[in-house]
Amino acid sequence: MVPWVKKYAPKSLQEVIGHEKEKALLKKIVESHSKKGKPVFLYGGTGNGKTCAVYALANDFGLELIEVNASDTRNAASIESMLGGAINQGSLFGGGKIILIDEVEGLSGTKDRGGIPAVAKLIEKSSFPIVIIGVDAYAPKLKALKKASELIHFKQLDYEEIFPLLKKICSKEKIGFDEDALKHIARSSGGDVRAAINDLQSSASGAKITMDSVAWTGERNVTVKMENALKIVFKTKNPLLALRAYDEVDEDIDKIFLWVEENLPREYVKPKDLATGFDNLSLANVFFGRIRRWQYYRFYVYCYALLSAGIALSKEEKYSSSISYRPTTKLLRIWMANQRNAKRKGIAHKIAGKTHMSSYRAFHDAVPFMAALSKSKTTGNNLAELFDFNSEEVNWLKEFKN
Ligand SMILES: Nc1ncnc2c1ncn2[C@@H]1O[C@H](COP(=O)(O)OP(=O)(O)OP(=O)(O)O)[C@@H](O)[C@H]1O
Ligand SMILES: [Mg+2]
Repeated sequence: MVPWVKKYAPKSLQEVIGHEKEKALLKKIVESHSKKGKPVFLYGGTGNGKTCAVYALANDFGLELIEVNASDTRNAASIESMLGGAINQGSLFGGGKIILIDEVEGLSGTKDRGGIPAVAKLIEKSSFPIVIIGVDAYAPKLKALKKASELIHFKQLDYEEIFPLLKKICSKEKIGFDEDALKHIARSSGGDVRAAINDLQSSASGAKITMDSVAWTGERNVTVKMENALKIVFKTKNPLLALRAYDEVDEDIDKIFLWVEENLPREYVKPKDLATGFDNLSLANVFFGRIRRWQYYRFYVYCYALLSAGIALSKEEKYSSSISYRPTTKLLRIWMANQRNAKRKGIAHKIAGKTHMSSYRAFHDAVPFMAALSKSKTTGNNLAELFDFNSEEVNWLKEFKN
């Protein structure tokens, strides 16, 4: 049986549903590509047509498509050998070509062996249009590529855009359907067209697709986004409504903490509301700490209650402002701090392994001590041998300042 996602994959850009402005932009960039043209960075959630749009585009313009799937080609050497040739040689059939670097997140970003710097370097030289596809163009490791490219965002599609496609497939397959059933599939796909078509095919075993045959699809894919949950919490004064806000959020509770923390000061601008809000947030955090320390899982109830109804009732009256809630920047800051500490952690780990002290103690107490000892060349060498420090670690210790 041929999967319908393959059978009905769009052959032309016109058949790619939605994304009208973005498609026009893609076309324009390819049409007017000059030697100095920037690459396109196409990004967005899964299954909404990024890869198939580029194939359709190549088809429309009669261009040869050279694809490098970044998940298979992680390091600089293989990127260079795969892309280098394609970028410089003419097309196999004498026409033009498009170079597609799909799933760019799969490339490693490290400086020495990294695929990302290799791509960034190669795109400067390309005389053909390049399309890079990824999920999130704002990921820190993709910064250089993002900066060098023209960004195009494929947003998740609305169910009203997906529904006609499902209808068309049913009529081509000569399968009867209830409109409500197809709408249900379209809705529960969460904007993922691939998921919607797969669900349609799985529901089509009987003579007709009815609500009964699609009821199961509602159980997956429904990820009410965090933003929607926050909107409920911040905008309602009704505790019962607020209590259910996170029911369908598919995120860990620590992520919820970060989202609330990030957006609370943006929503609750009156000092009194803000103070009460943070009091409730910190109380939730106290319970969360107890869960982690003592595994008192029943405290989750209090955590969620404080994060939802607690925050909702912290305001005197609701704010009419409409802001879009944003994900936390705290994780990024933690990540940066971790990067800074990575070397020290590695050293502490080696010390801890040999001396049987905890990594924590080694990190805080032993590292400065070892660093002081390492200032002397012979002791430094002896320590390096004892603890198996590599040359980078030895240098780091020498330069360490407390
Ligand atoms: N906008 C669309 N219009 C028509 N069909 C679509 C669309 N989006 C997805 N499809 C269908 O879903 C299949 C998968 O889409 P595609 O591979 O382009 O998704 P993607 O955005 O690249 O997803 P991923 O991020 O998971 O790689 C296509 O072969 C096609 O059948
Ligand atoms: Mg894809």
